[in-house]
Formats: sequence, C-alpha cells, structure tokens
Amino acid sequence: MNNNITNWKQVLCVTTILIFSTLVNAQKVDIKSVFSDAEKQTDVMIKEVPAAKHGKADLVSPRTVDAAGQLVLSPSFRWTSGFFPGVLWYLYAYTGDKKWEEQARIFTDNIKREQFNGGTHDMGFKMYCSYGNGYLFTKDEMYKKILLQSAKTLSTRFNNTVGCFRSWDTMPQFTFPVIIDNMLNLELMFEATKLSGDSMYYKMAVSHANTTMKNHFRKDYSCYHVVDYDSTKTESIIKKVTHQGYADESAWARGQAWAIYGFTMCYRETKDPKYLKQAENVAGYILNNPTLPADLVPYWDFNAPNIPNEPRDASAAACMASGLYELSTYSKKGNIYRKAADKMIESLTNNYRSTIGENRGFILLHSTGAKTHNSEVDAPLPYADYYYLEALLRAIKIKEGKKLF
Ligand code: GLY
Repeated sequence: MNNNITNWKQVLCVTTILIFSTLVNAQKVDIKSVFSDAEKQTDVMIKEVPAAKHGKADLVSPRTVDAAGQLVLSPSFRWTSGFFPGVLWYLYAYTGDKKWEEQARIFTDNIKREQFNGGTHDMGFKMYCSYGNGYLFTKDEMYKKILLQSAKTLSTRFNNTVGCFRSWDTMPQFTFPVIIDNMLNLELMFEATKLSGDSMYYKMAVSHANTTMKNHFRKDYSCYHVVDYDSTKTESIIKKVTHQGYADESAWARGQAWAIYGFTMCYRETKDPKYLKQAENVAGYILNNPTLPADLVPYWDFNAPNIPNEPRDASAAACMASGLYELSTYSKKGNIYRKAADKMIESLTNNYRSTIGENRGFILLHSTGAKTHNSEVDAPLPYADYYYLEALLRAIKIKEGKKLF
C-alpha cells in the first residue's frame, strides 16, 4: 500500500483524539460520520446500478435520479462519467478499505475507451477524476499509460491560433467555443507533462489559462460561460454568451466555481502569481456577492431573476469549497477562504444530504445541472458528491498541516 493510503489509515484510527481532529468549523462537521454515511449511500448505489442499465451495457456511470425517482446512468462518453469512479477512489483514500479500491477499479475500467475519444474537451473531467485519482492512490502503471493517452487525445483539440482547447463540436451556433468549464481539464495536461517529461501539455495548459483569463472575465471578475472564437484569426472573438446560465451577462454559479477551482489549480501547477490573483478575485466576486445566501450555497445563477425563489446548486458550493480550501493554503487571505469553505461544507452536510438509503445512493441533493434547459433541476448529481468528498479530504489535510492532493 502506498504512503498516501498509509497516511489516510493513520488519520482514521478510531480514537477520541482523532475524532476531534477530524471536526471542522468549530466542531460542526464530523467528517468521520459523513464518510461513514457516504459509504452506506455508495453501497446502495452500487446495488442499484445493474437494474438501472435496463439491459444497455454502455450505460456505466450514475448521472442523476429522474422525476420518477429512478437512477439514471450515463454512457462513458458523457462528461459526468468519471465522477462516480472518483467518489469510489475518495472512499478508498479515506478508509483504506480494499472493497472501495475494487469497486473504484471496476467503475474506472468502465470508461477506459474514453482515452481515445477526441470528440470532447471533457477528457479531464472524465479521466482525471477516475484514472488520475486511481494513479494517485495506487501508482498502477496501466493508469499512467491511460492518462497519457487521454492527454495526447485532448491535445488534438488545441488550436494554436486561438491558444485554447476547443470545447463543443456539435453546436451549430458556435464556431470555436471555449467554455469556462474547460479550465478543469487542464489538470490532466499538467499531469501529463509531469508523467511524460513532454512540456507540450504544460504549454498548452498555460496558453489556455492565459487566453481564458484575458477573455472570459468581466471587470468584476465574474465570468462568461462561453467565448466563441474565430479560429482563423488571432485574438478574434465572435461572441461571449451563456449556454447553461440565466443570461449572456449573468454569472452562472457553477461557471464561477469552475473558475475559482481552475485558476487555483493553475497556480499550484505553475506558481505563476497572476493565477493566484485571479483565483482571489473570483473568490471575492463570489463571497461578496449580495445574492449569495447566508448558508453560502449559491443559487444556480448569481443573477437568476427570482432570487430567493430559485433553485440552489449544491454542486457549485461543493466545487467552490474544494477550490477555496486549496486557495486558502496559498493566499494571504487564507483564513477567510478556509472559513467560507468550512461554512459551505457545514451547510451541505447539515441541510443538503440525502437520508441514508434514499435517492438511489447519491450523497448530496439540491444541485442544478442546466436550469435553462429544464434539465436536472434540484437534483442529485455525481459531481456534487465528488467535490464534496474532495473538499472534506482537503479539510482534513489542512487541519493536519499536510500538503493537499
Ligand atoms: N461541465 C458542464 C457543467 O458544468 O454543467
């Protein structure tokens, strides 16, 4: 067993001292009990998966629960397919229980073919959350090979004239769309340079981050969802719009979460202070926003027209919390960011979790996938669960004064 897991096991010795040491936010969240509940929910989900396939072998990864309360699975090519494998790796990381490693390996293997899928920018979401964590916790050489192939495939979507990875291919209203979400895929590229020694991946990631920093943000550091480029000319923007937010000029909550997480991660990987500043500025926009509720779980869009009668997005809060925990370790304003993340985690834990045994095994409720498309509104979503567990693991590391992963 590698050192990471050994460390986690040490953390988890069930002693009174350690129980208290895993409490965050003035003892308001008992992480040990949250993980124990998450294990129970995940047991439920694993049992639910075979029936939810309805005979379709290509449905491999939990996506949400539909209006009838049934578990919905997605095929591996969907952007969400890596999150449930990631949840399983995080359960393994916390517990050291081989049962979770076994399940994580099965669900990770289910999306193996995505390493060759060049038709999507979502490679990082899919392959880093699954294979990336798998490699981190096991050092399995096969996972490394698949990560490198995934990065190679994603590199085919990089355009030198634009300086970015292209997001979607299939929407005729766009020429060369780049969405803020794409920032998260850069982690795979940074990792590929570390694993291979080939700086091409790092350079592409830096170019994408710089171009996004320049073109996606407004003066108040909120960001657009989509910037559409003319890829035949340098610095040529066709339009700045939204696809999942309320309006072109609004601040879609999960987009802001991707921004804070993405630029914090870019700072980690490059140590370029401009990324740290950008993440701090985005955090300022989020945390000082008058529409951010007292529990710090945002409405699905910071400018949604009927606030406070709008759905929340727990997935945005979970991703923000994880990003803020990491940012807190780099920033002079770390105390503010850590407290905000603590509050988000406290709120999600106390008021947004599923009752054990319900909701087909999802951990968090009340996320919003795409309100403008009336899709997955006030629903459980696997990326909410993934970033929630990641945030909890980061909270523990911070408390221990250890490096985050
Ligand atoms: N990356 C797609 C979303 O955040 O909904």
